[in-house]
Amino acid sequence: MKTYLVTGGAGFIGSNFIHYMFKKYDNDIRIINLDVLTYAGNLENLEDIEGRENYTFVKADIRDKEAVRKVFENNEIDYVVNFAAESHVDRSIENPEIFVETNVLGTLVMLNEAKRAWEKEDGSYKEGCRFLHVSTDEVYGSLNNLTDYFYETTPYDPHSPYSASKASSDFLVKSYVDTYKFPAFITNCSNNYGPYQFPEKLIPLIINNALKGEKLPVYGDGKNVRDWLYVEDHAKGIDMVINGGRIGEKYNIGGHNEKQNIEIIHIILDTLNELLDDSDPRKKNVSEELITFVTDRKGHDRRYAIAPDKIKAELGWEPETMFSEGIKKTVKWYLENEKWFKGVTSGDYQKYYDKMYTGR
Ligand code: NAD
Ligand code: DAU
Repeated sequence: MKTYLVTGGAGFIGSNFIHYMFKKYDNDIRIINLDVLTYAGNLENLEDIEGRENYTFVKADIRDKEAVRKVFENNEIDYVVNFAAESHVDRSIENPEIFVETNVLGTLVMLNEAKRAWEKEDGSYKEGCRFLHVSTDEVYGSLNNLTDYFYETTPYDPHSPYSASKASSDFLVKSYVDTYKFPAFITNCSNNYGPYQFPEKLIPLIINNALKGEKLPVYGDGKNVRDWLYVEDHAKGIDMVINGGRIGEKYNIGGHNEKQNIEIIHIILDTLNELLDDSDPRKKNVSEELITFVTDRKGHDRRYAIAPDKIKAELGWEPETMFSEGIKKTVKWYLENEKWFKGVTSGDYQKYYDKMYTGR
């Protein structure tokens, strides 16, 4: 039985990954979820698996060397999947420091502690141990030409403090592979969407605001392009890489599903109108008139587009969920989980929202 140490498992993608893995492997794996529970971490995302004997939650910070070491000392960890990060570009523009601390120094701690636990006297590593670092397509920068794509060989050109911190962490992982022959992979994925995404990110923010009849803020001209992937397809890709990828390699993961932000907003409004019953009081709030163009994000990358050719050729990965199906599933999930929305938007969310959007 393999033991996975998943960091950041209480966040959006991490919790979807844990759900995916238990659905696929049930009692044949063990998962330890190490998460410090920042504003983005929420144990409600994992309520239904809390009682499993093959699941353990550890509240700890990836920057805390002693705490991470204890987890390695007390458990035979086979695989590390490193999701834990500060993940929101707008927050990184406001406060870059925590991005460097968590994303760069935290990743360094994870690398060092895994290396310490797995390295044998001769410098080789315990059989089968693997470290997968979850990264992003934003490290490649921005594409201007519509026929260009990000490949694994595309030079890094990050623009935001967030993407610069992720690029730095990728370079650290690569340096451990090159210097110590450390058994790691890097995956660079495009924009994810699906259940449990914190409503600071475009799709859940638009759904939340539309249901409340609040403005739908569109940065700049709304024509920036993102390449959207249903989160379960990302989870499937990570599983395939850690269980079959070539050590030391990096793999791009993306949905071949490029859309302008303004298109995404129209699709969400159409989907809400389709799914909401006429008798539902929230339906009267949903209106195109809420769309409001606001001051652009500083340094806003124009277009991201991933070429997932390598993961397809080597591992047979392909996105399974068409956007039309995925967005319907996603909107439906948020409609049915209003309590979750309310939970995550209570507390400091309103303060964050006012700071970022008032007078913009
Ligand atoms: P998220 O913000 O929803 O979740 C991050 C999780 O990490 C939270 O549970 C948080 O509590 C935890 N965390 C933060 N700092 C920590 C620390 N110091 N120690 C332990 N835990 C900590 O993020 P997400 O959207 O799920 O992204 C997960 C990973 O995937 C990130 O590394 C991100 O860069 C990468 N990624 C995200 C996307 C996307 O579209 N969301 C796409 C590609 C890659
Ligand atoms: O590409 C992968 C990345 O995708 C991940 O690495 C990041 O963790 C994740 O947050 C995401 O980054 P983006 O900046 O692309 O996602 P976000 O949802 O913040 O914004 C998507 C697009 O929508 C972007 O062009 C900015 C725009 N936007 C966003 C918000 C929150 C708006 O127009 N209005 C908004 O209110």
